[in-house]
Amino acid sequence: MSRYLNKTIGVLMGGMSSEREISLRSGVNVMNALKTLGLRAVQIDVDREVSQKLLSEKIDIAFIALHGTYGEDGCIQGLLEVMGIPYTGSGVAASAIAMDKLLSKKIWSASGIPVAESVEIDPSNIEATLKKIGENTGYPVVLKPYSEGSSVGVELVKTEGELRARLPEYSRQFGLAFAEKYIKGKELTVGVIDDGKELTVFPILELRPKNEFYDFEAKYTQGMTDFVIPAAIPEESTKAIQATVKKAFRDLGLKGVARIDVMLQDDGRYFCLEANSLPGLTDTSDIPAMAREVGIGMPELALRILDCVEIK
Ligand SMILES: Nc1ncnc2c1ncn2[C@@H]1O[C@H](COP(=O)(O)OP(=O)(O)O)[C@@H](O)[C@H]1O
Ligand SMILES: [Mg+2]
Repeated sequence: MSRYLNKTIGVLMGGMSSEREISLRSGVNVMNALKTLGLRAVQIDVDREVSQKLLSEKIDIAFIALHGTYGEDGCIQGLLEVMGIPYTGSGVAASAIAMDKLLSKKIWSASGIPVAESVEIDPSNIEATLKKIGENTGYPVVLKPYSEGSSVGVELVKTEGELRARLPEYSRQFGLAFAEKYIKGKELTVGVIDDGKELTVFPILELRPKNEFYDFEAKYTQGMTDFVIPAAIPEESTKAIQATVKKAFRDLGLKGVARIDVMLQDDGRYFCLEANSLPGLTDTSDIPAMAREVGIGMPELALRILDCVEIK
C-alpha cells in the first residue's frame, strides 16, 4: 500500500468500443474500491482527447478498466508506454494478440493448448467457405468476429442454408470473422492473476446461461445466468483445466489479471475459446465473483491488480 501514498491513480474507463457501458460500470466499481482503500484516484473517460487528460490529471499509474477496441487491444497500452505511465494488465503485444481470437487460437494450437476447429470466413467466396465448414466443423456452427467481446457478433447457426443466407450481411456487419465448431458442454471461465512471481488460478466459475448461450443479455442482466462456483465438474477436470489455463496465459504473454473461457464436454475433453486480457470488474462480472469465493472483496482485488504493476 505504501507505494501508492502520494500517487494519483487514473482509472481509465468508458472508451470508444461497443463495450463502453460495461467499462463505465467496471470503472466506477474500481473507483469506489480505490477510495475505500484511501487511495487518490481520478476518473478518466477515454476519448480522442485522452492524452491531454492524462497530462492534465498528472497521473502516476493507470488502472485500465476499459474493454474492447482501443482499450483491450494494445492501443491505450501503447500510448501509456510512450507517455511513460505504468499501467495495469498486459502489455501491448499480449493485449493485441488476446484481442484477436483467431490469432490466439493459432498460438495456442501451435503450443498444444486444445482449441475448437475453426474456418476463416472468406466473404468473397461464400461457397468455398461453406464447403470448408461442412468438412471441418459441421453444424451447428458458431460465428465470431476476430476482435469483439461481450458476445457481440457471436451467433449460433444451425444449418448450411441458414449460414448461406446469413454470411454476406454478417461479413458486412462484423468484418473479419471465423466459424467455430459448436461445443456442447459446460461453459467455464477461469481467472488467473500473475503478480510477477507466481500465477494463481481462482476457483473455476461455471456459467449456466438461461439463454441458448452466454450472449450479451445473459452476461449483463442480473438473473439471466446462474453462477456455480466452484464449478460442478470432476476434480480431475478442475486440475487439468487449471494447468492448461496457466499455460495458455503464459503462451500469450499475459500479465496482471486475465480470464480464459473454456468449454468442457461430457467426455472430459475441453477447449479454450478465448482470453480476456481486461476482464469485466462490474458487480455482476466473473472475476469479482471468483475473488469473493476466496474471500477477496473488490478493494483487495483492485489492490492486487495494482500490485502486479511494475513501477520503475
Ligand atoms: N465453439 C463454441 N461452442 C459453443 N458455444 C460457444 C462457442 N464459442 C462461443 N460460444 C458461446 O458464446 C459465448 C461468447 O463467445 P466467446 O468466444 O467467449 O467470445 P466473447 O466472450 O469475446 O464474446 C461463450 O461464452 C459461449 O457461451
Ligand atoms: Mg468470452
